[in-house]
Amino acid sequence: MSDAKGIQPRSLDWSSDQLSQALHAASKWTIEYRDGIAELPVLPQVQPGDIRSHLAQKPPSEGEPFEKVLADFDKYIVPGLTHWNHPGFLAYFSSCTRGPSVAAELLIAAVGVNAMLWRTSPAATEVELLAVDWLRQAVNLPEVYSGLIFDTASTSTFTALLAAREHVGADIRENGLTDGPRLMLYTSEQSHSSVEKAAIAAGLGRKSVRKIKVDERFRMRTDALEQAITEDRQKGALPAMVCATVGTTSTGSVDPVNKIGEIARDHGAWLHVDAAYAGSGALLPELASNFAGWESADSIVINPHKWMGTSLDCSVLLYRNSTPFRSSLALTPAYLESEQPNSNLMDIGVPLGRRFRGLKLWVLFRCVGIAGLAESIRNHIEIAEAAAARLDANPRFNLAAPVSFSTVCFRAVGLGDVEAEDRWNRDILSRVNAEGRVFLSHTELEGRYTLRLSVGSVDTESRHVMEALDALERAANDLIPG
Ligand SMILES: Cc1ncc(COP(=O)(O)O)c(C=O)c1O
Repeated sequence: MSDAKGIQPRSLDWSSDQLSQALHAASKWTIEYRDGIAELPVLPQVQPGDIRSHLAQKPPSEGEPFEKVLADFDKYIVPGLTHWNHPGFLAYFSSCTRGPSVAAELLIAAVGVNAMLWRTSPAATEVELLAVDWLRQAVNLPEVYSGLIFDTASTSTFTALLAAREHVGADIRENGLTDGPRLMLYTSEQSHSSVEKAAIAAGLGRKSVRKIKVDERFRMRTDALEQAITEDRQKGALPAMVCATVGTTSTGSVDPVNKIGEIARDHGAWLHVDAAYAGSGALLPELASNFAGWESADSIVINPHKWMGTSLDCSVLLYRNSTPFRSSLALTPAYLESEQPNSNLMDIGVPLGRRFRGLKLWVLFRCVGIAGLAESIRNHIEIAEAAAARLDANPRFNLAAPVSFSTVCFRAVGLGDVEAEDRWNRDILSRVNAEGRVFLSHTELEGRYTLRLSVGSVDTESRHVMEALDALERAANDLIPG
């Protein structure tokens, strides 16, 4: 059939047959990859530039068959991946993708919607709001909280800070940062760098971030917080936000949120709780005491992509009151006006376009269930505690912090020379990671190089962590200086 001008219509996209073949090939690849992942080295054995050098440097002018592209992906790209789903992935905080999230990502791509306005995909907005509410219920937060999903905790915390700026009445939305008192942000010296970055991005500046000292368990010291706020107010500064962390990045420590909340409220500051990693732990009733006081926060961030098994990106920002969020950023040009002005998620946050992230969280809850998610998390904590007990019983190692959630910090010790010990630990970590069976990371605690193991991949079993400890013990013996 031709149109009025005699032009033959043809689809410029794949035919249904081509798409079907590609999906079959991609799903076959996916199953084989995931079945065989434990046999791959967790960390790729490549140098910077290696991967790129194998790939064509100029884009193709004509399309190629998907099978050829998939073959190159398998041959040249996959060997350059760090396998976050590997059971030996014990570095940073895990971000592994459970099966239901893999399937959900396919559906998200298939429908390819943009949830910027309610009407640009009503179901995407409503499923996102519902999935966020399911998370709220699962972690036992009161009904007053609602929220939405961003890409990362960095974005969630930044967005909360913009709302806090409005909340303290600085009217920066209209006037910018040209005049008015200095706005301060308080957080512990153990909090994640994304908090300080939010202050940079929001125009407060690094000098407005007070990093409050921690106690011997790496928790924010509330006496130091009170003192810092009082000093700043005497100088005419305005406390805008206090950010407490439940599950700090280095050690998993838990700030005393209850007391911090009282102090924030007394001084008119916004309380944000960064529970990006450990928030998923609130699924477990036995961990409830770690979260005491978070129900009074103005905003909370939890990343299901860290410990629940949705694929990256899925960071849930919860808040008690959406008004400061809307008043900080909502801006509707004529071309985005709609008949449902209060239902548009573009009004909260910087991005206009919004992926259908709610689907993967909803699918995960549907397919795994709260009990299944809790079981994984409980299992990870038990494995981490067993690892800590083994390290503690070995005179060659010391625990460097109390074990919190599924994170263990430790060092090889006994040289009597701090610098030599730091070098030794560095060498141990390099050796163990180079072997490719497991991947651990490090941090610095009290100025000392510290090894760190965090259990969070859905397929990690006790034997994988014990294998990591075998490798650490071997490396510590082999590399002992002198
Ligand atoms: C406690 C905490 N907050 C925030 C972040 C930042 O997370 P994202 O990568 O989602 O921005 C991290 C990352 O590990 C974290 O550990």
